[in-house]
Amino acid sequence: MREYPPPEAIRTLYTPAAIAARVGELAHAIANDYAGRSPILVAILKGSFVFASDLARALPLPLRIEFLGVRSYGSGTVSTGAVQITQDLTHPIENQDILIVEDIVDTGLTLAYILGLIQARGARSVRVCALLDKPSRRRVEVPVDYVGFSVGDAFVVGYGLDCAEQYRNLPALCELLQVPDSP
Ligand code: IMP
Repeated sequence: MREYPPPEAIRTLYTPAAIAARVGELAHAIANDYAGRSPILVAILKGSFVFASDLARALPLPLRIEFLGVRSYGSGTVSTGAVQITQDLTHPIENQDILIVEDIVDTGLTLAYILGLIQARGARSVRVCALLDKPSRRRVEVPVDYVGFSVGDAFVVGYGLDCAEQYRNLPALCELLQVPDSP
């Protein structure tokens, strides 16, 4: 059987142990900042599903979890700036403390759209926790309150992140070395 993933296709950036350690640190900082409050974690699908489940379990806080499905890239690797809601929140968020849990902030276009949506629905406070940040690629300024790892201009897969829906199940965060052409 052919090895999966093909070793020539990816390079490990962060091992599962390194990710777990960083998630613990993020949870510690968030728990301190939200002491005495009950935030709603809004996990952005699909990319943050693994991160959000680990982060939620590391947070010693009474919290609720909501999922917001967005699609920003189609099947390619370059942002179009057009954001489509594929799954909406199931409860009102008026007067609630919202912690957005994102997989990666690249151009910032997706997050800017999400922040606008959450604010328009009357949240009391909004903060952002992103597993990965690619600051060199930013096109719009967005506030990111908690960042797991800052990366360069690599295309990252694994731990929930995909390329054309592949690789989400890799336990490590990996650079994709053979990036397919955009459609
Ligand atoms: P932005 O709108 O350009 O900031 O892109 C945000 C979304 O694009 C993220 O939530 C990801 O779903 C996707 N994305 C951006 N960079 C990567 C990457 O390196 N790997 C996988 N997905 C990415």
